[in-house]
Amino acid sequence: MDEFNNKNVNDKEIKDIDFNHGGNILNKAKKLNLLPSQIIDSSASLVPFEPPKPLVDALKLEIKSLEFRYYPERDLHDLREIIGKFHQINPNNVLPGNGASELITWAGYEASKVGTSCIPSPGFIDYERSLNCWNASFINSELPKNWSNSFPQSFPLKPICDVLWITNPHNPTGQLWDKHSIEAILKKYKLVICDEAFLAITPNGEKESLIQLTKIYDNLLVIRSLTKLFNIAGLRLGYIIGSSEKLKQWNIKRDPWPLNSFAIKAGIELLNNRIFYKEWTKKIHDWINVEKNWVSNELSKIKNIKVHYSSTNFFLIESKFSLSSNIDYLENKGILIRECSSFRFLNEKWARISLQTRKNNKILCREIQKSFKK
Ligand SMILES: Cc1ncc(COP(=O)(O)O)c(C=O)c1O
Repeated sequence: MDEFNNKNVNDKEIKDIDFNHGGNILNKAKKLNLLPSQIIDSSASLVPFEPPKPLVDALKLEIKSLEFRYYPERDLHDLREIIGKFHQINPNNVLPGNGASELITWAGYEASKVGTSCIPSPGFIDYERSLNCWNASFINSELPKNWSNSFPQSFPLKPICDVLWITNPHNPTGQLWDKHSIEAILKKYKLVICDEAFLAITPNGEKESLIQLTKIYDNLLVIRSLTKLFNIAGLRLGYIIGSSEKLKQWNIKRDPWPLNSFAIKAGIELLNNRIFYKEWTKKIHDWINVEKNWVSNELSKIKNIKVHYSSTNFFLIESKFSLSSNIDYLENKGILIRECSSFRFLNEKWARISLQTRKNNKILCREIQKSFKK
């Protein structure tokens, strides 16, 4: 067990971690006496563009027609059909949820029945929340702190637990894992949960998706989110793909109407029009390819800072010294970046930054540079 670091999490730690989740823009806006739109939120990794017009139009129509007065379909039939068609998956193997987060909770339930989970760390803290919900046991397995700039990369951890949680691309490092390297270890686990919340955003990401493998491996669950790609964090919309038996069991146990009519409409609108979807993702990938290089170049000019490689719209910076005062300075300017001391195996010398529009990237980089001169 040498390569693993077993961490017991107590209640205080859980609270601190929960409080430190990025994307607290409404809270921070109140604190700073600013409008949310006046804040540059580089702490949550959503695309910095307005949600798509076809979506906004569909939601307006939903209001006008007053259709939201009816309970949504209990079996979410239409949305499951659309998602199934989109991924060429049987709709019985699809379960939409109130954001990927709700499905992470249910994946944790499944994991708790199977055995001990391995969480590659630093990693998304919500997996721990979910496992703690069900009193499931887990270990945090440390990922290497340096990696190359060529993606996809081989998944680096050897199989040892019953359940593996994978994030592809990985949060917070931005590493894109090679699908074949994961397939090679799939059979060694009783259950593999792969969170692809950022995969559609990531240039060349879809090639690494495990979704089609769910047709072969009954022990594989793949989670997706529409939050990041379409900048719709408030709508709460995600889905999971996997064994119809497992999904049916969760569906019996969970809230009767976890998705509201607006989220359901949004999912149908966003995934039903292939041409729109293709154009939108191309725009996002082009933006990432350009801005990632520009921002990395700008920040690499700062002495004592290392900018780590990423495949996607967020990346880690590592400083020789604590970044706490830099983060405070930025916050007072209405700029949020994600401090990393709440990530396992990282500390206050690390921060995660997400890409913005060029206009805001200029402000972001200029203020980060200034914060080091203070
Ligand atoms: C890796 C990862 N998965 C899932 C989520 C949650 O997504 P959703 O908004 O769909 O609940 C996040 C949010 O930060 C995330 O970073």
